[in-house]
Amino acid sequence: MSKKKGDVEEESLEDSNRVVRFGVSIPIDLLKEFDEAISQMGMKRSKAIRLAMRKFLADRKWQCGSGDVVGTVNILYDHEVRGLDEYLTEIQHDYLDIVLSNTHIHLDKEHCMLIIIVKGNVKRIKELIDKVSSKKGVKQVKTVVNPVS
Ligand code: NI
Repeated sequence: MSKKKGDVEEESLEDSNRVVRFGVSIPIDLLKEFDEAISQMGMKRSKAIRLAMRKFLADRKWQCGSGDVVGTVNILYDHEVRGLDEYLTEIQHDYLDIVLSNTHIHLDKEHCMLIIIVKGNVKRIKELIDKVSSKKGVKQVKTVVNPVS
């Protein structure tokens, strides 16, 4: 069967890499602002919408507290606080099911940045973040997550 550009029904549902086209209705002002922003970035609409949808899905998983994500947990802390370096190492051993790797950066005499790369269940990752965040000497914890497909 021949396919025309724009057809969405002919392709197999089993092929997860297939690309489909769809129509959406949005306010014209929103589209103008969106197009202006993405043109400044040199990005095409399809690419920008794909990125926005993936971000939406990852954010939703994160908020709902279920599903799997892959991302980083960036921890800024004071390494002069007694026991904190050791704690941050030990807790990664307790969460080996979600911890893939880490990078440690010595920022200045007192401060370190620990970046933990995580993959797995959102609940488990949030649990790790809560434990780390509540420790004395931890100054900031930021998380970036992406959906696992
Ligand atoms: Ni350090």
